Amino acid sequence: MSGQTWSSDLVAALPRRVLVAGGAGFIGSAFVRLLLANPGAPQVIVLDKLTYAGNLANLEPVAAHPGYRFVQGDICDRALVDRLGADVDCIVNFAAETHVDRSILDPDAFIRTDVYGTFALLESARLHQHQRFLQVSTDEVYGDVEAPLRSLESDPPRPRSPYSASKVGAEMQCLAYHATYGVPILITRGSNTYGPYQYPEKIVPLFVTQALDGLSMPVYGDGGAVRDYLYVEDHALGIASVLAWGVPGEAYNLGQGGEPINGLEVAHSVLRLTGRSRELIRHVADRPGHDRRYALDSTKARSLGWAPTMDFTRGMEQTVSWYSANRSWWEPIKSGEFLEFYRRNYRPLAGTATSI
Ligand code: NAD
Ligand code: TYD
Repeated sequence: MSGQTWSSDLVAALPRRVLVAGGAGFIGSAFVRLLLANPGAPQVIVLDKLTYAGNLANLEPVAAHPGYRFVQGDICDRALVDRLGADVDCIVNFAAETHVDRSILDPDAFIRTDVYGTFALLESARLHQHQRFLQVSTDEVYGDVEAPLRSLESDPPRPRSPYSASKVGAEMQCLAYHATYGVPILITRGSNTYGPYQYPEKIVPLFVTQALDGLSMPVYGDGGAVRDYLYVEDHALGIASVLAWGVPGEAYNLGQGGEPINGLEVAHSVLRLTGRSRELIRHVADRPGHDRRYALDSTKARSLGWAPTMDFTRGMEQTVSWYSANRSWWEPIKSGEFLEFYRRNYRPLAGTATSI
């Protein structure tokens, strides 16, 4: 699926041995697949707990690569991360609980993994005097942003969901470890990401897989909340660029940067590309505390030479065609645990008039 190649300058500027925490998830696995596709790529150890969102199939394309090793484990396991830290020069931390709706239902795991887990990884970076520690964070740390403003890295955090609060907690520890111990941390704040291999709970893969099966797409509230959708390969390239050339102690926004796109527009794009009728759109009650708008100013990351290469129209075409061609990847996932979450989350929102 990878269409992107990275420049040899970028690959040469990366640390030589990288621990990728959460590398079996959506963005982490794209980062690993793209990284290892380059000649002269660093050695990679993926550490992943394989929660409901982690999937070894995402790493199947690199499974036989000589520079790749997989370790199943928890980033909160201090002894394990201290041991693995001895074998690398840097950590890139993708590992997290990541879905806002799940954080509303069950915040506990978010605090544990996103906050304590980041602390455990930072301790390993401190112990082994790593060259870099990159924390993969999110634009959600800025909270709701009024139009026409775009968030700047210097804006204060205003998290409004348990998920975004847990990501702010992680960022604050990174900044403290930089100030206190001189750990060379970097933070990326990526915007909403979509593309192949995304667990079908976030809006794009949920709506695509629902539409492919002729099932309804639950749009929260009026469908007017907007996001700055970024294609996954562009997000991975942005993380690599910050890892190579970012200034320690600094945060970098990674956003598409065009006009933000709302939920109904996502639904219509999916209907167009799957040939389904608008009857699949099902308005449900709004998400509690739903942030109405995220929008990033990514000038700082662009000054490192990074720029997104995929616009939303083409990115959605690629995404829909990948999910159409890879039912064997997502059909087994849309059972058991997923269905339990789906009913728990959406039934109360659907009210009595609609089936969901
Ligand atoms: P994901 O949910 O697809 O994957 C998360 C991965 O972390 C999974 O492989 C899971 O098994 C692993 N994991 C969870 N808890 C763990 C633990 N305790 N120990 C080890 N591994 C654990 O997430 P994603 O969408 O790929 O997001 C990756 C990172 O990017 C996250 O930190 C997220 O906050 C951030 N981010 C995501 C988006 C987005 O739109 N998806 C946007 C901006 C930032
Ligand atoms: P989501 O993909 O959950 O990402 P986040 O909440 O982290 O931004 O949601 C993106 C947008 O889509 C957000 O405005 C909520 C909306 N949405 C729906 O309308 N229906 C859904 O079923 C989901 C999951 C999201």
